[in-house]
Amino acid sequence: MAFTSFNEFLAALEEAGELLRINEPVATELEITALADREMKKPGGGKALLIEKPTINGEISPFPVAINTLGSWRRMAISLGADSVDDVASDLGALMKAKPPTSLGEAVKLLGTAFQLRHARPRRVATGPCKDVVHKMDSLSTRSEAWPPAPDWKKPDAIDPAPPSLLNIPILRCWPLDGGRFVTLPCVITRDPDTGERNVGMYRMQVYDDRSTGMHWQLQKVAARHGRRYYEAGERMPVAVVLGGDPVFPFCATAPLPDGLDELLLAGWLRKKSIDLVKCETNDLEVPANADFVIEGYIDPKEPLREEGPFGDHTGYYTLPEPYPVFHVTAITHRRDAVYPATIVGIPPMEDFYIGAASVKLFLPIFQMNFPEIVDIALPAEGVFHNLVFVSIRKTYPMQAYKIMHGLWGMGQMMFTKYLVVVDHDVDVHNTSEVLFHLTANTDPQRDSILSRGPADVLDHATSEIAVGGKLGIDATKKLSGEGFKREWPPLIRHSTEAQARIDALLKSIG
Ligand SMILES: Cc1cc2nc3c(=O)[nH]c(=O)nc-3n(C[C@H](O)[C@H](O)[C@H](O)COP(=O)(O)O)c2cc1C
Repeated sequence: MAFTSFNEFLAALEEAGELLRINEPVATELEITALADREMKKPGGGKALLIEKPTINGEISPFPVAINTLGSWRRMAISLGADSVDDVASDLGALMKAKPPTSLGEAVKLLGTAFQLRHARPRRVATGPCKDVVHKMDSLSTRSEAWPPAPDWKKPDAIDPAPPSLLNIPILRCWPLDGGRFVTLPCVITRDPDTGERNVGMYRMQVYDDRSTGMHWQLQKVAARHGRRYYEAGERMPVAVVLGGDPVFPFCATAPLPDGLDELLLAGWLRKKSIDLVKCETNDLEVPANADFVIEGYIDPKEPLREEGPFGDHTGYYTLPEPYPVFHVTAITHRRDAVYPATIVGIPPMEDFYIGAASVKLFLPIFQMNFPEIVDIALPAEGVFHNLVFVSIRKTYPMQAYKIMHGLWGMGQMMFTKYLVVVDHDVDVHNTSEVLFHLTANTDPQRDSILSRGPADVLDHATSEIAVGGKLGIDATKKLSGEGFKREWPPLIRHSTEAQARIDALLKSIG
């Protein structure tokens, strides 16, 4: 099902009993985080929250805040218009099986074509609800919000609902030591200046003042590559940021699609309907017509980078200030009934666990294309995405676990994986306790581990140098004789089927 608006998605969540409305005022400064964090820590991810009266420096914002909308398996499935994320994954798997590609490159090409054929490419329309209110920034003078407020800072008398500005959108100040307010769920649209290919990525944005933000695209991300090309050419880089609209947008923006494959094609395929796009007011990028907010602007390659952060991050720690490009806002457009979508990141588990885990489920068939022995992959919440990856394989020859480690470390964003544990096919990688049991039972640490080096997540504070780090692979599979193992591998203790059946019947008879 294709949601026509973010509000329609919120209504679907409410009908499914997945949304709580909070009618009391809650401050965008730290309080929404405190509330949402409790919800996200509940078993299964708690509920989505619609904060109807978020306050900005004590004043009620004209826009409500929705948070944790993707933070459970059920809500992820609803956002994808499916009964379960597994259903969507098997749909994508079937697509691959219809005409199995022989290489990853071919798989990517096949995906692109299949997405286009199945639900058509995005189409251009004249206008849409994201333009209910259009505000171009030229006429305003810059206003900034210092934090902590300077002693002589005067609270504004009231927050003017129009014109929209970065200072009256209820953007969260998430954690006490954060360097400011951060847009946490932005879908950032850029274009490759050489090929014209679009990219949609999620990169947080620190608000500097009413018309400029940081743009935290990390050096290995696609928009950063686009940016380098604009820097080389010395040309202004157009950027558009989409908030809200169909809930598949944030999911697709975070999905680790290969460079060159348009996330909006994936979005169209997921929602089974092509996406209506409208042209921006102040640059020639296109944005989904049903977005709640669109923030248009540019990055000027002649301008020096600016310190961004600190920010309480996915890692559970603050990332310290680092230089990033400055995004200048040229226009803000929004729906009349716009809802501001947000998330928070921090000590896991958080909402982003479900977003990342859904990506892994969906893209498992692509991993299996390249490595048919892979049975399943899990990124446990404790490992905050790439810190820890469990992979189960159907092993048939010596050193196969090492082939998988090297292969995955060389595949897209799996390059960031710090600890990679390979187990046999019958181990449930989604059960961390089961994996740890096999890891400790089946390994001789000296023989079964490999240390390597490679690119690291720039958020990782533990590496000695930013973006470069060590990797540990552990082979926790049953050892074969060709792997230096000279003894007999003992059987795993299991019940007899007969005894199990007898006890099942016995327990049933005594209730
Ligand atoms: C909530 C959330 C926030 C994120 N913030 C950032 C960020 O600030 N910078 C970044 O480079 N990646 C961030 N990511 C990860 C990227 O969105 C992800 O790597 C995505 O695949 C990047 O798209 P790209 O490959 O098109 O560059 C975030 C992911 C999530 C779920």
